[in-house]
Amino acid sequence: MSKQTWQPGTMLSPLPPALIGSGNMEHPNVMTAAWTGIICSDPVLTYVSLRPSRYTHELISQNKEFTINLPTWKIAEATDTVGVKSGRDLDKFALTGLTAEPCSKVKAPQIAECPVSMECKVLEVRPFGTHDMFLAEVVAVNVDDKYIDENGALDLEKAGLLAYAHGFYYTLGRKIGKFGFSVEKKKNPAAPSIATVMKADEKFGKKKIQMPKGRTVSEAKDTTTFFENGVEVIVKKPKFSPKHKPTSLKNDKERKDFARQKSVKFSRKENKGTNYEPYSFKKKSDGSFKQKPKRK
Ligand SMILES: Cc1cc2nc3c(=O)[nH]c(=O)nc-3n(C[C@H](O)[C@H](O)[C@H](O)COP(=O)(O)O)c2cc1C
Repeated sequence: MSKQTWQPGTMLSPLPPALIGSGNMEHPNVMTAAWTGIICSDPVLTYVSLRPSRYTHELISQNKEFTINLPTWKIAEATDTVGVKSGRDLDKFALTGLTAEPCSKVKAPQIAECPVSMECKVLEVRPFGTHDMFLAEVVAVNVDDKYIDENGALDLEKAGLLAYAHGFYYTLGRKIGKFGFSVEKKKNPAAPSIATVMKADEKFGKKKIQMPKGRTVSEAKDTTTFFENGVEVIVKKPKFSPKHKPTSLKNDKERKDFARQKSVKFSRKENKGTNYEPYSFKKKSDGSFKQKPKRK
């Protein structure tokens, strides 16, 4: 690999283009900030770095409280807008349609459209240069119950969180492994050390997985696994495809029931408002979905 050496720059990516809620419910304000992060796990400490010219800087300096809200692709436009307009000049909630909601422990508003909102109390302000760092303790976290599963665990894959990298917004994409999955795999001698689903979308975009001759392919209920350049590629099967009907289905009625059940499970309706794209739909440039023409 050949790399060019550049001048120092703010290249850490991806970062959340977080929505910072400030002020109070009578006079709420919201702005975008990518210079934010976690400093410590216990106590949970965070920061946001703000230029002194921001109205948010003034409000947080007064109230010593703010919220960090994680935006989704659905509110990408609003996220950008509140990052280029100042609350000094206009009401950004009225402008964008974002909703300010009260918090449990701070007076600053949280943003209803964000699946995760963190309530923060400022401990210290440290001026550095262009930006002042507001170091704060997270005193509460509010999570949209839509993304809490039956075991109480938070599953954000369907939330469609936004990421910001080097001047551009991205969606997060698919979940490809759990914290520690690489070591868990090693514990099982039958399993290879590297696992990835990186090719899944690409392969399914092309609909068919073409397997070169001699490649070992193993089929499981939900996945097809093969090796490519020493990397194990696990491809999720499109469960709604009639190709992957369980062989146990005996008659037409059972097959129809199965198809109905699967199509409900993977329906666009259920996934409305998320970036979870069933493979049979292609996204158009305006973000809407176009169904592939049916095969004749
Ligand atoms: C993606 C994005 C990231 C931003 N990150 C920061 C940041 O980390 N710190 C900052 O001071 N301004 C940042 N800004 C700029 C502010 O959001 C912008 O100046 C905003 O208009 C300030 O609003 P306010 O005056 O209502 O506080 C960012 C803007 C965008 C679009």
